[in-house]
Amino acid sequence: MTDEERQTLIARAVAVRQWAYAPYSHYHVGAALLASSGKFYDGCNVENAAYGSSICAERTALVKAVSEGERQFEAVAVVTGNGGSPCGSCRQMLAEFGLDLKVLLLDGEGKVVRETTLRELLPDAFTPESLRRD
Ligand code: THU
Repeated sequence: MTDEERQTLIARAVAVRQWAYAPYSHYHVGAALLASSGKFYDGCNVENAAYGSSICAERTALVKAVSEGERQFEAVAVVTGNGGSPCGSCRQMLAEFGLDLKVLLLDGEGKVVRETTLRELLPDAFTPESLRRD
């Protein structure tokens, strides 16, 4: 990821957070993914009156990207009010496409509070490789 891509990724994650639909938790999340194609995909959390039907920002961004043909990703930026880290379901969904994903966690001011990888956030991940029988 170039410095320019990194800045764009962060700016997109900060900007998309304004669209978070979180009338129940009031926890607004924005996420942006950089695909290896060079394209960016962003998403916010979208909650539902049937709470379990809600979707996180990271998975919104991921399904947007995959449904446009992307399968390889370089980095994800996640913006929350408190620099929170992706939930287990989002880690698992992202792991499907590679554990070397760079993960940038930002607070509500857009400051990077942690920079890590999916491999570090999800040790001993269950991935497509785990289904091999031979
Ligand atoms: N949320 C995300 O969007 N991403 C995460 O990784 C953690 C949680 C959302 C889900 C729900 O809308 C709200 O934050 C509170 O859990």
